[in-house]
Amino acid sequence: MATAASPAGMIRWLLALGALCAAAAAAKVPAMYVFGDSTADVGSNNYLPGSAVPRANFPHNGVDFPTSRPTGRFSNGYNGVDFLALNMGFKRSPPPFLSVANRTSKQIARGLQGVNFASAGSGILDTTGEAIVALSKQVEQFGTLRCNISARISEEGADNVLSRSLFLISTGGNDVFAFFSANSTPTAEQTRLFTADLVSQYKNHVKALYDLGARKIAVIDVPPIGCCPYPRSLHPLGACIDVLNELTRGLNKGVKDAMRSLSVSLSGLKYSIGSSHAVVQSIMKHPQRLGFKEVTTACCGSGRFNGKSGCTPNATLCDNRHEYLFWDLLHPTHATSKIAAAAIYNGSLHFAAPINFRQLVEDQC
Ligand SMILES: *[C@@H]1O[C@H](CO)[C@@H](O)[C@H](O)[C@H]1NC(C)=O
Ligand SMILES: *[C@@H]1O[C@H](CO)[C@@H](O)[C@H](O)[C@H]1NC(C)=O
Ligand SMILES: *[C@@H]1O[C@H](CO)[C@@H](O)[C@H](O)[C@H]1NC(C)=O
Ligand SMILES: *[C@@H]1O[C@H](CO)[C@@H](O)[C@H](O)[C@H]1NC(C)=O
Repeated sequence: MATAASPAGMIRWLLALGALCAAAAAAKVPAMYVFGDSTADVGSNNYLPGSAVPRANFPHNGVDFPTSRPTGRFSNGYNGVDFLALNMGFKRSPPPFLSVANRTSKQIARGLQGVNFASAGSGILDTTGEAIVALSKQVEQFGTLRCNISARISEEGADNVLSRSLFLISTGGNDVFAFFSANSTPTAEQTRLFTADLVSQYKNHVKALYDLGARKIAVIDVPPIGCCPYPRSLHPLGACIDVLNELTRGLNKGVKDAMRSLSVSLSGLKYSIGSSHAVVQSIMKHPQRLGFKEVTTACCGSGRFNGKSGCTPNATLCDNRHEYLFWDLLHPTHATSKIAAAAIYNGSLHFAAPINFRQLVEDQC
């Protein structure tokens, strides 16, 4: 890539791209760009000021990450994006955009291999938080990176690389939580309007990415968040909060329909929806089969179900972390994320549709 600045280098580089496209077995994408919330954040929020910013750059987060480093991931180790990246042949998720945001020429070269824009606390709607990087702003940040990339390797070069790169979106849970905290018993009409608004905004974000050159969109749907330790800790009987799960199912269905219709109207758009919803449901239904023993209480936290506070240095920490579905009050463990990524990357239609991520990634040109 470093040789691409000179005209001869550019030509060599484009020829190399052509060769890659022709080689049917070349499975890997040139880059991965990641958008979304804490399920995908790998440290964006570490760069944001203020006390209202959700963070995880302190222990016990990262206790199972290489060198036990807390990076900002809401996990004991890797998150789902890291495992998906591993499946595609990368080492782990690309770095947070804000860690390469000064855009030196070295950083832009790095940006060509992918960047992660996800910011914990964000949602589909801009209203999910002012302190964090909203999804619309993440898409804007990608727009500036794209300018830098095309300035470096030409407009056609940028189009070529980006059209073969993977654009991963993992968001929606925070919108559902925000709506629920304002309307814990919404009417059918309120639910319908809320869902329609979310889906229409989701479409706008996907269209904006398409306009910037994205052609392979990988969506992660929203898991049954009403069964996370935090909502359970609010329920008098410790059960799942059904309203949250119903809102989530409605949103997932709407996004599924929206992606199908976008793939018809936007020429060249290919997509896959990976169902973290189906994965979490499978684990809850048959925990032992998949090696889990604890699917209600978080490994790290405090209070009922360890769901009353986040994972802080003085919170309780479990020993057998690989047997827990939940890491903290809202997020999965390294073990859960690994299983989810395997199912979504190369699993059946139950876990990823209309094609799985591997098929999306391997689709040639
Ligand atoms: C970006 O540049 C500013 C000023 O030169 C510096 O203070 C900051 O640490 C840099 N940020 C990163 C992520 O490199
Ligand atoms: C990257 O783009 C930004 C915004 O368009 C610009 O200010 C900056 O100079 C560019 N950096 C490089 C190295 O081209
Ligand atoms: C952990 O410590 C912080 C401040 O040091 C405190 O606010 C919080 O309540 C403590 N949490 C637990 C679970 O003890
Ligand atoms: C994907 O799954 C199929 C069987 O379902 C298997 O044959 C193949 O080796 C897997 N590919 C990868 C890259 O894991």
